[in-house]
Amino acid sequence: MDYNKKSVVDIDVNGKKVLLRCDFNVPMAKDGSGVITDDKRIRAALPTIQYLLDNNAAVIACSHMGKPKGEWKPELSMAPVAARLSELLGKEVILAKDIVGEDAKAKAAALQPGQILLLENLRYDNGETKNDPAFAKALADLAGEGGVYVSDAFGTVHRAHASTAGVAAYLPAVSGFLIQKELEIIGGALAAPKRPLVAILGGSKVSSKIGVINNLLEIADTIIIGGGMAY
Ligand code: 3PG
Repeated sequence: MDYNKKSVVDIDVNGKKVLLRCDFNVPMAKDGSGVITDDKRIRAALPTIQYLLDNNAAVIACSHMGKPKGEWKPELSMAPVAARLSELLGKEVILAKDIVGEDAKAKAAALQPGQILLLENLRYDNGETKNDPAFAKALADLAGEGGVYVSDAFGTVHRAHASTAGVAAYLPAVSGFLIQKELEIIGGALAAPKRPLVAILGGSKVSSKIGVINNLLEIADTIIIGGGMAY
């Protein structure tokens, strides 16, 4: 399938601040120890992050974790993600103490090309899930004049939230490599399927996948449902 969306390679990121929406909503140990039990989503974000850093961008990464619903729940902090991301990148990941507050603003303003900052859990602010324009603008303002928005949160990109949708009203927006890869593979498989087409779906949230399943019923020869959804 031809990929017809602009991606990071189509723009100049040299010396720019890039607001990068990732999906770092990783599973954590239930005992509140802050141990990440599967870092696949962090690893999946690495190609885009590395490309941006290698091309002299200052990266302001952001993500949600769980559903804190506007409450500042310490067990849903992005701190464990910052630590794991730092190990994987082999460089410091600066963690902001807030999202668009004084600490994030100061750290974003001081961020240099080749450095990466991670904001706190976007859903600590209800403006995120409400797609509040003021919150979206505050996120965009962190990237400042000449800033760019990169959408690479494949697992969350279907949500019309401030960091996934609203922010694109205030910054030039392109996709990252993860979005590109997933759209190419899934888009290709659905647009011109090699038969027999077998779709395997997992995960726990059946409510948000009903639309996908209905659509697949028209296209796939067989659908296999596993994971939490099977129960
Ligand atoms: C997921 O885990 O499905 C994504 O991170 C999206 O999370 P959400 O269903 O809480 O929006």
